[in-house]
Amino acid sequence: MLTLAVLISGTGSNLRALLEAASDPDFPARIVVVGADRQADGFAHAEAFGIPTIMVPYSEFASREEWGAELHAQLTVWRPDLVVLSGLMRLLPAAFVDAWAPRLINTHPAYLPEFPGAHGVRDALAAGATQTGASVIVVDGGVDTGPILAQERVDVLPGDTEHTLHERIKPVERRLLIDVVRRIATGDLDLSVYDTH
Ligand code: GAR
Repeated sequence: MLTLAVLISGTGSNLRALLEAASDPDFPARIVVVGADRQADGFAHAEAFGIPTIMVPYSEFASREEWGAELHAQLTVWRPDLVVLSGLMRLLPAAFVDAWAPRLINTHPAYLPEFPGAHGVRDALAAGATQTGASVIVVDGGVDTGPILAQERVDVLPGDTEHTLHERIKPVERRLLIDVVRRIATGDLDLSVYDTH
């Protein structure tokens, strides 16, 4: 059974989908802890499923490095096989990435390498793109530059706002994320090929 830590910053709707998938006894992964850099609304989903939470408030640390070291220390207690970034809106320090990668994956609401960064949906709209998408990647030292594990196109529709487009992308992200986690858990997808240590 693959054990997961999931890190969030916001509403955690993708976390919710993963919790629901993992509550199926036939699903080969379990979430052992949910973490966040703030008092995230998505903690409510973890609590509803009886999953422990850890909160490491970014604002209370003097540097990104110190915050990342504390997050790393608290995650280590739970010994997750895989860390899933599911809407964590913070860049992780290099030492954190080095400690967990390639067992560190991220979902992103764009068809990478198009529109990386914190505003993938807004940037696709601003660019006038007629298509964007969703991606699941291995985290590396860059911003959304790691190896792509799964991705799928989503059409931009006339009249789309950032909200309507994002709400159409998220179900695709969820499906891709759940499938990637399942493939990692069953051994169909071998993350060790992305190990750069
Ligand atoms: C998701 O679309 C996720 O890909 C995105 O934040 C959203 C979180 O939604 N992450 C990024 O943009 C990271 N650069 P949720 O909290 O409802 O799951």
